[in-house]
Amino acid sequence: MTATAPTPAAVPRHLAVIMDGNGRWAERRRRPRIIGHRAGARAVNVCIDFCLERGIRALTLFAFSSENWGRPQEEVGALMKLFLNALDREVEELDRRGVRVRFIGERERFSAGIRERMRAAETQTLANTRLDLVIAASYGGRQDITDAARALAADVAAGKLRAEDIDEAAVASRMALADLPPPDLFIRTGGDHRISNFLLWQLAYTELWFTELLWPELDAATLQQAMDDFAGRERRFGLTSAQVADALPEKTHA
Ligand code: FPP
Repeated sequence: MTATAPTPAAVPRHLAVIMDGNGRWAERRRRPRIIGHRAGARAVNVCIDFCLERGIRALTLFAFSSENWGRPQEEVGALMKLFLNALDREVEELDRRGVRVRFIGERERFSAGIRERMRAAETQTLANTRLDLVIAASYGGRQDITDAARALAADVAAGKLRAEDIDEAAVASRMALADLPPPDLFIRTGGDHRISNFLLWQLAYTELWFTELLWPELDAATLQQAMDDFAGRERRFGLTSAQVADALPEKTHA
């Protein structure tokens, strides 16, 4: 391989997605925003199907940010109802298809009913291995880092860890998704080019891909476009192109 050759075609092991544009999709149709969220729930299935078909092993979806609680009460309430219904409706099928479901974020902020469904979905699907589906709900990247810092401080205070031994691995092991490879590819729909307090730590070397398409419009062709773009990128992880070319293929995609 020459120094300028792209890295070999690769399927991301872990895909992270900001599903943006539900509200605008509905507003363009002069419908209430919740209709857009309902259409967005259908697009979630498109994305899960795609991951299962292409052998993507982990999918993290940003369903509700810590900041989304500040939306009009009517929209938050309708979204909660939608989450409840989706959990009731989809878990059997996800389980049947080998999907392991988990939730990250401030679970205690949700109602007892939603928390119970989250726990039940995680328990039912725990042994599955085909796809890790992570739903980030009331999640914030800064909060995730803050929680890790608090856990480190507690371990230092308890004498389990010395402050001078705190390194990146020690932080990483206390963050959400510590057991998964970091996302290889990040996709955001809806036209905005920002991370919006999603997986701040975990996205350090993730390839970013943006589309103007609104989330409810998502289809397999768009996801394939992102895959093709990803496959053509050279991931250097802070090294030079020549060093990457000399590295083992699996290393270049670590
Ligand atoms: C952002 O669009 C989307 C959300 C805040 C909610 C995402 C929820 C879903 C896709 C529905 C179901 C999800 C699961 C996991 C069952 P926006 O409202 O910010 O859109 P806008 O930028 O056009 O206003």
